Amino acid sequence: MNKYRNDFPLFKAIDEKNSIDNSGLIYMDSAATAQRPYIVLNAMDHFYSTQNANPLRGLYSLSERATKAYEDARDTVAKFINAKSSNEIIFVRNASEALNLVAYTYGMANVNAGDEVVVSIMEHHSNILPWQFVCKTKGATLKFMYVDKSTGAIPESEYSKITPKTKIVSVTHVSNVLGTQNPIKKIAEIAHKNGAVMVVDGAQSTPHIKVDVQDLGADFLAMSGHKLCGPMGIGALYGRYELLDAMPPFLRGGEMIEYVTEDSATWAEVPHKFEAGTVSAGDAVGMAAAIRYIQNVGLENIEKHDNNLAEKLVEGIKKIPHFHIIGEQDGRKRCGIVTFTIDDVHPHDIATLLSDENIAIRAGHHCAQPLQKYLGIPASARASLYLYNTEEEVDILLSKLPQIRKWSGFKD
Ligand code: ALA
Repeated sequence: MNKYRNDFPLFKAIDEKNSIDNSGLIYMDSAATAQRPYIVLNAMDHFYSTQNANPLRGLYSLSERATKAYEDARDTVAKFINAKSSNEIIFVRNASEALNLVAYTYGMANVNAGDEVVVSIMEHHSNILPWQFVCKTKGATLKFMYVDKSTGAIPESEYSKITPKTKIVSVTHVSNVLGTQNPIKKIAEIAHKNGAVMVVDGAQSTPHIKVDVQDLGADFLAMSGHKLCGPMGIGALYGRYELLDAMPPFLRGGEMIEYVTEDSATWAEVPHKFEAGTVSAGDAVGMAAAIRYIQNVGLENIEKHDNNLAEKLVEGIKKIPHFHIIGEQDGRKRCGIVTFTIDDVHPHDIATLLSDENIAIRAGHHCAQPLQKYLGIPASARASLYLYNTEEEVDILLSKLPQIRKWSGFKD
């Protein structure tokens, strides 16, 4: 896989005076945002250089070309996650917006007093706060499925929290902290048996493993572009057509209407009903280029590569005294997300000390404060790996980690 590293300009000297040189940077924060290959930057450049006009509006050929580029990008996303139709893909700014869209529209229309929404304790704030809002506003109850602290998995007994009172089950496919891969298919079956819809946060799974919304039984799935080598500011919501069609709009404004009078409006067909205002066509084109790029590398190859590296890192960390892997203990199942703590050393200090060694990892609560509270840790450190990371980088990180306690003033 090492050859793909050359596809990423960031790992080279990036300014003309060579004053910024990232060639030695060990970037292990891809769960926060991945790097972008030239092909994505070029696709966006090409769009703005040769196809730029306001899509979906103009009756001249440049605008038609912009529209085609945008709709082709939608089609690429649909095929990537095996949606039945590109009409089931709505472009949004990011996974957070996708989940908010479902909460504000489907949630507000279908959750009522006495109903329940079920999430898991490992959710990112993006998959908790919208449901807190819906439940508080509608007088419904938000229930949490808890995890086994030693494995990071949701025990099956927790599934019994999904009952006929449940209207929505919203669970992450892969945890951005625990690395857990949730059995969405099984959870979706239980949700459907109880008459609930299944919402999936796919932000951390879609960059690493093959995701098939039909096979998973997902009614909605949120994903972001920037975590799979695309631009920031673009993501997608998959929704089953029948559900999207019945939902009220989210944002109101340009291009999402069929007809407007002084005191009323009717809506455009799905998916445009949910895309008010000028769309981020250049970013959608970039996201589609990123998807084609990772498909070209091969998701199976990416999965294998990320699993190999994560296994090496997890097993290496387990051997270091005072280090603790948080969540899934099998590195091969963590989608490249390796989260750990070190006794008596604050994760912020771990990240700062590693930054001095030119290694970028993330530390903090990872936008999952309820999970950290449940685990009884204030924060954790996380190295997240992707297709451009190498075994040599993992070896370098493993050679630095045992020194962190010494750098922090501890004898062992
Ligand atoms: N959700 C992103 C992360 O886990 C930002 O780092």
